[in-house]
Amino acid sequence: MKTWLMALFTALLLISTASVADPEKETVGFAGADYWRAVKDGQEGTTTSRSPEHGVLISVPGQLWFEVKTKWVSPLGAIAIFGSLAMCGLVYWGVGPTKLSQPRTGRKLKRWSRLDRALHWTTAAMFLTLSGSGLAIIYGKYIIKPVVSMGVWENWIWFAKVFHNYVGPLFFLCLLGVLIKWCRHNILSRVDLQWFAKLGGMVGKHKGSHPSAGFSNGGEKMIFWLLIWFGGIVVATGLVLDFPIFGQLRRQMEWASFIHIVGALILICGFIFHIYMGLFQLEGALEGMVTGEVDETWAKEHHDLWYEAVKHQLDDPNGASDKAGSATHRGQ
Ligand code: HEM
Repeated sequence: MKTWLMALFTALLLISTASVADPEKETVGFAGADYWRAVKDGQEGTTTSRSPEHGVLISVPGQLWFEVKTKWVSPLGAIAIFGSLAMCGLVYWGVGPTKLSQPRTGRKLKRWSRLDRALHWTTAAMFLTLSGSGLAIIYGKYIIKPVVSMGVWENWIWFAKVFHNYVGPLFFLCLLGVLIKWCRHNILSRVDLQWFAKLGGMVGKHKGSHPSAGFSNGGEKMIFWLLIWFGGIVVATGLVLDFPIFGQLRRQMEWASFIHIVGALILICGFIFHIYMGLFQLEGALEGMVTGEVDETWAKEHHDLWYEAVKHQLDDPNGASDKAGSATHRGQ
C-alpha cells in the first residue's frame, strides 16, 4: 500500500515539474519584481480569454472606487442609519406617539384586502432580509467578524452573499406588485401639500390638528415613491452586478456597485421611519395592516376624505369585505 502511494506521489511530482518546464509558464512562475510592478501598474498582458479587460490583472482606477466605498460610503451610511434610528428615538421621547383623540367606536372599516396584506408582508420580509444580508456584506467585517470564530464568520458571510444574490432579483417581483396594486392611491394632490404644511399634524403647533388626507396621506405617498424609485434603481443595479455576463466593464460594475449601495442605504433610512411609524408612532395603523380593518375613529382622524368615501360600509357590513379592493381606494 505504502509503495503504491509513493509511486502515485512521484508521478504527480513529475507531472507538476514537467508543466513548470514549459517556457511560457516558467516566465510567470519565476516572474520577478519588474513583472509584478507592471501588474500592479495595471499593464495589460496576454491571455487566452477573448473577453474585454481580461488581460488586466489589477485595475488601477478600481482603487478609487474601493477608497470611495470604504472611506466615504460605508462610514456615511453607518452615520445615516444610526442618525435615522436616533431621530426616531427623539420623536418618540420628544413628541410622543400620536394617539387617537376620540374614543374608538368599535365599528370597523375594511382597509387592506388579504392580497394587500400578503403583498405588504412579503415585500417587508424580503426587504428586511436583503437589508440584513447587504449590511453584513458592507459592515460584517467590522461588527461580526471580530466577535465570532473564523468558521462561523465564513459561513455567515457566505450565506449572506448567496442569499443576497438569489433573493435580490425576486424583490423585483414585489416592487412590481406594489406599483401595480397601490399606485392609484399614491398620486400626489393639493391635499398632500396642505398635509405637509401642517407637518402631518404630528408636531409643533399643528400637533393633533388631523390634516385632511385621502386613502394615503402625504407622508405615506413619499414612502411609496421612495420605494418605487430607489427600489427600482437598487434592483436594476443589482441585476447588473448579479449577471456580469453581458460584457459589463469594470468601470460600469464599479458605478453599478456605488449606485446600488448608496440607493440601498437611502432606502433603509427611509424605511426605518416607516417601520417606526407603523410600530410605535401611529396608534391603530398596524392593526389595519395585520387584520385588514381599522376603527372608524382612526379612519376619521387620519384619512377623513377616505372615510367620507367608504363610511357607507358601516351600514352594510356584509358587503364591506367584498369592496376591499374597490371602495377602500376611493377618496384618494
Ligand atoms: C416591521 C415592519 C413594518 C411595519 C410594522 C409596517 C407597517 C405598515 C402599516 C401599518 C402600513 C399601513 C398604513 C396605513 O394603513 O395607512 C404600511 C403600509 C406600507 N408599507 Fe409597511 N411596514 C413595515 C415594513 C415595510 C417594508 C420593509 C416595506 C417595503 C420595503 C413596506 C412597504 C409599505 C408600503 C409601500 C405601504 C403603503 C402602501 C400604500 O401605498 O398605501 N413596509 N406598513
